[in-house]
Amino acid sequence: MGRLVAKLLVLGLLSLITTTCRPVLSAAPPRAHDLRRALEQAMRGRLLADGAGAAVPFHWSRELYNVVDFAVGTPPQNASAFLDLGGEAVWTQCSQCKRCFKQDLPVFVPNASSTFRPEPCGTDVCKSIPASKCSSSNVCTYEGTAELDKHTVGIVGTDTFAIGTATASLGFGCVVASDIDTMGGPSGFIGLGRMPWSLAAQMKLTKFSYCLAPHDAGKNSRLFLGASAKLAGGNSTTVPFVRTTPGDTLCQYYPVQLEGIKAGDAAIALPPGSSTVMVQTFAPMSFLVDSAYQDLKKAVTKAVGAAPTSTPVEPFDLCFPKAGVSSSAPSIVFTFHGAAALTVEQSRYLIEADKDTLCLAILSTSWLNSTALDKTNILGSLQQVNIHFLFDLDKETVSFQPADCSSLS
Ligand SMILES: *[C@@H]1O[C@H](CO)[C@@H](O)[C@H](O)[C@H]1NC(C)=O
Ligand SMILES: *[C@@H]1O[C@H](CO)[C@@H](O)[C@H](O)[C@H]1NC(C)=O
Ligand SMILES: *[C@@H]1O[C@H](CO)[C@@H](O)[C@H](O)[C@H]1NC(C)=O
Ligand SMILES: *[C@@H]1O[C@H](CO)[C@@H](O)[C@H](O)[C@H]1NC(C)=O
Repeated sequence: MGRLVAKLLVLGLLSLITTTCRPVLSAAPPRAHDLRRALEQAMRGRLLADGAGAAVPFHWSRELYNVVDFAVGTPPQNASAFLDLGGEAVWTQCSQCKRCFKQDLPVFVPNASSTFRPEPCGTDVCKSIPASKCSSSNVCTYEGTAELDKHTVGIVGTDTFAIGTATASLGFGCVVASDIDTMGGPSGFIGLGRMPWSLAAQMKLTKFSYCLAPHDAGKNSRLFLGASAKLAGGNSTTVPFVRTTPGDTLCQYYPVQLEGIKAGDAAIALPPGSSTVMVQTFAPMSFLVDSAYQDLKKAVTKAVGAAPTSTPVEPFDLCFPKAGVSSSAPSIVFTFHGAAALTVEQSRYLIEADKDTLCLAILSTSWLNSTALDKTNILGSLQQVNIHFLFDLDKETVSFQPADCSSLS
């Protein structure tokens, strides 16, 4: 983990500052001369794997982001993207790119795919995309905010996606310009947020689940879509999403109510008005509102019993020489509405930053320098390892249970 983490961390998270969610538009009946389009529309997003649902393996990148390998087009072209629980869209860079960031795989060439269709202006899909525009050739285009001052511009297209065992026709952003410098390898994002253009919405999923394998185990994590998303019997707890309204900055995410945090015996209070936690899979680290973070920092320092290093490894704030850390530091327990408790063991919050140093993989929200985020806690993916999370989009709940994520298939 190095500088890239510090840099990338913000991508995706800060998009919520400028995003306002829109309600899903109701589908207008197709015009008669639009039969082909109507057929395509009907196929759009259908899980061709059918009623059984689908399983999607994904893995940790070197910088500890969650990456899905998939294929787009006919014949299939390989691509890879960050899995972003709160993300609003699916997008990947395309060959028309004028300004592209470097990616590991070749960019997607729409012309080489017999199933690629540019989305015409004025369709429901086009209208459902925030900030969509119309190009001179009547193609729907959009501009997305990836970071505070970073943008991607894309044309909206539809093509066949093979993601794990799922095959689906999806609308996606075919990015033709961006001012992102690097994403460290992947070519785009797969968003699962509560927005009309996300993978979850396009596939009309009523539920999905994911389970993150330990980042250092070399095993795949799993995302389950539709019917295959289920927890084992017993031992799960369920928390409702915090109610949001369209326009609320959190409405595309999966926020839940945090009642308290415990680090060993130390109870860490959340300041009034700061008890929402956003579950996400994009940033590796968690963020706590500053006063709770400062209390956690004290509690962890006391529990570890060793003197912190004088200069923490970037981007961390609290590090210890590895030799000084006993394995007995307590678990951190997040307690949610209804007393559901999520236990994060020491190995999931004290992370090896280099071979001699362990650092607290939880930061203060003040590090994000964002007034929009300074009252919202964020549960990072490192702290979700070996916990199976099930999102029920109809009931608007998240359930979770401890699991051996590497062994799920
Ligand atoms: C695409 O990815 C698959 C699975 O990782 C691999 O077997 C295949 O060789 C790749 N195809 C190309 C053209 O790189
Ligand atoms: C794709 O094909 C169209 C029509 O033949 C052409 O105008 C366009 O330049 C091609 N785009 C790329 C990226 O090759
Ligand atoms: C529930 O999970 C805990 C912790 O992983 C385990 O000790 C316990 O046996 C589990 N209980 C059931 C009923 O699965
Ligand atoms: C926030 O500002 C501090 C101090 O200027 C800087 O070190 C840090 O990298 C910034 N955080 C982000 C996410 O830009």
